[in-house]
Amino acid sequence: MSGSGKLIKLCHGAVPQTQRRLATSISALTSRTVKQAPTAAKGSTSFQAIQEERREQAERSVLISCPAKINENKFLDELTKHGTIDKHFFYNSFGTYAVVEFSSRESIASLKESTNIPAVQHEAAVPFKSRLLSLKQTGSGSHPTPNFQEQSPPSINDLIKLLSEQDSIDEQLQSLTKALELSDENISLRFLVCSLLRDIAGAYFPECIIRPFGSTVNSFGKLGCDLDMFLDLDDIYASNQKTGSGLSLEYQVKRGASERVVTQSILSVIGECVDKFGPGCVGVQKILQARCPLVRFAHQPSGFPCDLTANNRVAMKSSELLFLYGTLDPRVRQLVFSVRCWARVHTITSSIPGAWITNFSLTVMVLFFLQQRSPAILPTLDQLKQLAGPSDKCVIEGNDCTIVSDVSKITMQNNTDTLLKLLQEFFEFYGNFPFKKSSINIRKGKEEIKPETSPLYIQNPFEITLNISKNVNATQLERFVVLCRESAWLLQQGEVLNRSSEQTADSVPAWGFAALLLPSVSSGAGVKSRRKKKLEPASSRIKNLLDSLKIKGGDTAAKKGSANHRR
Ligand code: GTP
Ligand code: MG
Repeated sequence: MSGSGKLIKLCHGAVPQTQRRLATSISALTSRTVKQAPTAAKGSTSFQAIQEERREQAERSVLISCPAKINENKFLDELTKHGTIDKHFFYNSFGTYAVVEFSSRESIASLKESTNIPAVQHEAAVPFKSRLLSLKQTGSGSHPTPNFQEQSPPSINDLIKLLSEQDSIDEQLQSLTKALELSDENISLRFLVCSLLRDIAGAYFPECIIRPFGSTVNSFGKLGCDLDMFLDLDDIYASNQKTGSGLSLEYQVKRGASERVVTQSILSVIGECVDKFGPGCVGVQKILQARCPLVRFAHQPSGFPCDLTANNRVAMKSSELLFLYGTLDPRVRQLVFSVRCWARVHTITSSIPGAWITNFSLTVMVLFFLQQRSPAILPTLDQLKQLAGPSDKCVIEGNDCTIVSDVSKITMQNNTDTLLKLLQEFFEFYGNFPFKKSSINIRKGKEEIKPETSPLYIQNPFEITLNISKNVNATQLERFVVLCRESAWLLQQGEVLNRSSEQTADSVPAWGFAALLLPSVSSGAGVKSRRKKKLEPASSRIKNLLDSLKIKGGDTAAKKGSANHRR
């Protein structure tokens, strides 16, 4: 029986002693996600409940540009005049900023009443009263500097140093995740930016909501990642109850030729408002002819690159799916963060759109790999659908997007693979995957014959006739495969696996996962640039090996090593 077959059986309670309930991992993740939340959704940890709570907190929050030498006590005394503050933090992003969350929305109204439109000289101000404010401070005096929350990821050199100081590869992958993941404050700031934009869109569509999706909410976001948002107009379309009198009223509306045309005109107007009225929103580009029309801009006070789309419910559901997978086992996020980091360092992924593998595709590849383990670490999407209750039913634009929302219904198998083993076998798995003939399908949890000839075919989880990696060309896929083989090989080397004894008081040679982040041999960046002499003998061996390796197949060393791991 395949690993996934066993999982179905276990879901129905066949072998209780090997089952493991999920309470621990989900409570760990959600307590981090909703930490300090005063109005925690009474024990509910569903994806929607977490999003709603975050959104509600953001609506009670303001973003304030502060003088660099801010007196925190005085600042809090002043703001507390408008009501109780639940939470606040400071950060630096081309200036000092504070996020202040009040207990009640009335405090925002009171604060706004005491705030002025600035008198500008030689220019004129758009009198738009947003929740992005500036604090002026007269006099300085001596006072302690507030604690600033970091909003950027560590540099690659700092990361390599941090990893090299760990005692095992498993610890390296855990500390990498901690160093890169979005902090609670960063997530709050992201929801606040959505809420500030909603205030602009709300001038036309008062019932609208701007929701974050993608890596902001799917639990795989790295500090510095973009902020994907969509304008949700569903509440406006919701129909009101009939009166029973036989009479009913309708709004007179402008009509467009298609939903796409209506979306384009709404985004065009909102984009114009963001550009002309949105404080801190710069470099606004309207990309309305894209498959998914969007408005792209930078939100300067937060430092977030932003993409605003509309009607993007399937992408939101994909975010929920990824979040669910991320909560099932801590190794899922640790492996995804590590693989994403490795891919970014070696320019397998890029922040610029192109023929590269995207983070989304890469994440689905990791999930697929984890479904292949024996016993399986993750259930298939079909299994998540089977466990769904009536309230989980979800059809979007004709696509069945139903998945279970209550994670406690999912029973996991007892797989105890270490992160090192998973990492090694991930590289071996994809270093030898039959990309030419097979597609990756997390719905079924197994390889299928490719329905068309794209070099990389990853079935879209919810729009099953689409390939999420259609953009990837053969060269980019080949680079990925070669790097997987090189990394698999490196992890077989004793000198890479073990922490070096050559360490000094302030530096430890890069080893383990840190060694995989050094420039690749196959990139041509070269053997020489690998930082420590210690690695050179292995690297030249790898170079020779790689010279003899071609993706075309053949009985390569890596392939031999992985023969037992593929199903
Ligand atoms: P980052 O690279 O950290 O921004 O990861 P991300 O997951 O946010 O990816 P990205 O910003 O490219 O896309 C945002 C979300 O849109 C993803 O998480 C997916 O839910 C969805 N998405 C991206 N690419 C595709 C695609 O090709 N097909 C579909 N159906 N959804 C996609
Ligand atoms: Mg994104």
